[in-house]
Amino acid sequence: MNRLGILISGRGSNFEAIADNVAAGTIDGEIAVVISNRAEARGMVAARQRGLNAIAIPSKGLDREVYDRMLLEELRRHSVDLVCLAGFMRLLSATFIRAFPNRVLNIHPSLLPAFPGLDAQHQALEHGVKISGCTVHFVDEYLDAGPIILQAAVPVLDHDTVETLSARILAEEHRIYSEAIRIVLAGRYATDGRRVILR
Ligand code: GRF
Repeated sequence: MNRLGILISGRGSNFEAIADNVAAGTIDGEIAVVISNRAEARGMVAARQRGLNAIAIPSKGLDREVYDRMLLEELRRHSVDLVCLAGFMRLLSATFIRAFPNRVLNIHPSLLPAFPGLDAQHQALEHGVKISGCTVHFVDEYLDAGPIILQAAVPVLDHDTVETLSARILAEEHRIYSEAIRIVLAGRYATDGRRVILR
């Protein structure tokens, strides 16, 4: 059985969408552990309500390498083989990435490489793009930079605010993150440089 480790920092709606698919049997795996770098993250409450292992490992004041070693230890303790970042607001070190080659995924609320980093929906509105969306990608040690697995586009409407655009993008995030997890777990892809070819 594939064992997922989900890393969160906040609301946890992407985690919940994944958990719904796991519960429905439409993701062939189980959630071995949910880890948050913020003890008060709303997603931790949801994880516990679902009866999952929800572990807070506060990151405040810790050196990246030290923190990532703690994360790795916890993920290994739960025999995790796929790490899903779901609103996890930290960069991971090269040491961490090397421990899970092609086994760390992230979701970002823009069509990368446009608008990496914080407040992607705000950046999209400020820039005036007519189309935005979301991206699921493999994680490397750079910010929102690894090979792209899936993207979904949504229109940016004239009357959009950060809230309305974010909600439209979020619905797509919840759909494509689980789809990307299925693809990776089933090995239904090949890589050609940065290109992820789906089969
Ligand atoms: C999402 O928009 C995700 O793309 C970004 O952070 C947000 C997390 O939301 N990385 P949630 O915690 O999954 O509800």
